[in-house]
Amino acid sequence: MWKRFFSRQARKPSGLFGRIIAKRIFDKGNDALNTAMVDLVAAQQDNVVLEIGFGCGTVVREVADRVGSGMVEGIDFSGAMMAVAGKRNRHHIREGRVRLVHGDFDSAEYPGNRFDTVCSANTIYFWPDPARTCERIHHVLKPGGRVVLAFVDKSKMDAMPLDMDVFRPISCDSVRSLLETVGFASVLVHPVKKDGTMVCVTACKET
Ligand SMILES: C[S@@+](CC[C@H](N)C(=O)[O-])C[C@H]1O[C@@H](n2cnc3c(N)ncnc32)[C@H](O)[C@@H]1O
Repeated sequence: MWKRFFSRQARKPSGLFGRIIAKRIFDKGNDALNTAMVDLVAAQQDNVVLEIGFGCGTVVREVADRVGSGMVEGIDFSGAMMAVAGKRNRHHIREGRVRLVHGDFDSAEYPGNRFDTVCSANTIYFWPDPARTCERIHHVLKPGGRVVLAFVDKSKMDAMPLDMDVFRPISCDSVRSLLETVGFASVLVHPVKKDGTMVCVTACKET
């Protein structure tokens, strides 16, 4: 019962639990992965960056601190996370440097060739069709743009007390071949933990 409730909240936080408890869990538990992802995004002045499933909005804020006259867009389908991230980024939103959208990336309408970088942490386990989502990421990236996906590897997730009808753990090798199949080049795996259970995978859309 708790396993199912927690797993559903992790996929799409809602209500008070989402705004208070999920926020604490994400801030603490996901910090190492999110910090590694921000480093790999390595945002430059003028970059236009998209984060899918921004949760509490910390990555959005940290990337926005670095893009100068660029822009960070985020999309998340949780109303609770929209509220938390909106508060956390209010200064950047006021200045027009951050735009947060309440919606599902899989059905959102983005023009092609828009972003320099697309990043996402701890969301790939919830994508109903990861190949389709990777294709959409490829489409919205500019030629030469990069994707950064951060996640806990299947080898560790399989042993966690999670509802596997909600979470679909994925291995690093599967993510690598998914990205190659949809046309990405230079796919690289960056271990965040030495044992490889927490990783970021980066790849480029060819010019
Ligand atoms: C486990 S939380 C991770 C939050 C944050 N990225 C982190 O690592 O702390 C997953 C987040 O992704 C969002 N999400 C999952 N799938 C999504 C999708 N297809 N489109 C938009 N948001 C999505 C959820 O609402 C939730 O806020």
